Amino acid sequence: MQAATDRPINVDEYQQSARERLSKMAYDYYVSGAWDEITLHENRAAFDRATLTYRVLRDISSRDYSTRVLGRQIPWPLFIAPTAFHRLAHDDGEVATAKAAAAAGIPFTLSTMATRSIEEVADAASGPRWFQLYVYKDRQATRALVERAVNAGYEALVLTVDAQIWAHRERDVRNRFHLPAGLEARNLLAAGKADMPQKDQGSGLGAYVQSLFDPSLSWSDVEWLAGVSDLPVVIKGVVHPDDAVLAADHGAAAVVVSNHGGRQVDTAPATFEVLPRIADAAGDRLEILMDGGVRRGSDIVKALARGARAVGIGRAALWGLAVDGQAGVEHVIEILTDEFERVAALCGCRTVEEIGGDLLE
Ligand SMILES: Cc1cc2nc3c(=O)[nH]c(=O)nc-3n(C[C@H](O)[C@H](O)[C@H](O)COP(=O)(O)O)c2cc1C
Repeated sequence: MQAATDRPINVDEYQQSARERLSKMAYDYYVSGAWDEITLHENRAAFDRATLTYRVLRDISSRDYSTRVLGRQIPWPLFIAPTAFHRLAHDDGEVATAKAAAAAGIPFTLSTMATRSIEEVADAASGPRWFQLYVYKDRQATRALVERAVNAGYEALVLTVDAQIWAHRERDVRNRFHLPAGLEARNLLAAGKADMPQKDQGSGLGAYVQSLFDPSLSWSDVEWLAGVSDLPVVIKGVVHPDDAVLAADHGAAAVVVSNHGGRQVDTAPATFEVLPRIADAAGDRLEILMDGGVRRGSDIVKALARGARAVGIGRAALWGLAVDGQAGVEHVIEILTDEFERVAALCGCRTVEEIGGDLLE
């Protein structure tokens, strides 16, 4: 663990420090967006443009920002979004990230493309865990993943719907991204789909997705997934209000308003911009989660003011992991929750229910 005095004090400093430690291929893979990276930058810029018109003299001496997400009480409206290949950042990989989330009591989402397995993470981390599902053409292998997640005590299935075709992340193409020797997509070992070798040209991950993911994925598959287990199904990758309505119609419990961190449809709108339309369209039928561009506690306040119930972090957690393993992720969570609590209080809000749209007028 790093001495407290040397530690970064905000998420951007963690990113800078992570950049110094990671290989160029790993840093570029984590940081990049699709094509011109317009959506990647817009996710962040949309938060920065929004101003907080705070309220005063409201007796903020007593505060509690806990909330309920997918049937679980959690201390802050924050969760770890699924990101692939944590062992590119630290040898403990997803186990370290999940333990950090558990220590804070916030949900951790394990990616299908994790470098630690469903069971390894479940054995190591006792907190709330969700499993993110990519649907393969091989439906037997897909179903086996779901069954393992259910058996290992994961509490929700997060179906990612915006990545059945891979966008070009040009840095990955240029770096010929691949998994270094010793790393694999461990959940797919049994199905014989764990390797991602270097290709003569282009991204090894792009080639993997193109050959194995199922582009026929449709709303009927959501009903199938909802019927496979009793776990709530969360649709991740929604930016259109009509799709939120369809998600509710097909049995989803929640949506994650997400554009995959700007890594899929470039020039898609910032998630923060589309949040209110989706919250309006969904009404009381769905829980609204969001991710994309969260780097400050004030971003969490703003997302809640626009109708999100909880907010996910992708890259922010990876920067903490790269710098200091579990302790680094714990510190990133501490920084964000501390910033969030201070800003919420300074806006005159004592609970998450008091964080309303009037703050953004
Ligand atoms: C390096 C990286 C890997 C990702 N891998 C996955 C994945 O395996 N499954 C998935 O549903 N989303 C994946 N995402 C998208 C994240 O879940 C999330 O939508 C995004 O990171 C949020 O934006 P942020 O990084 O600005 O917080 C990935 C994102 C990054 C940056």
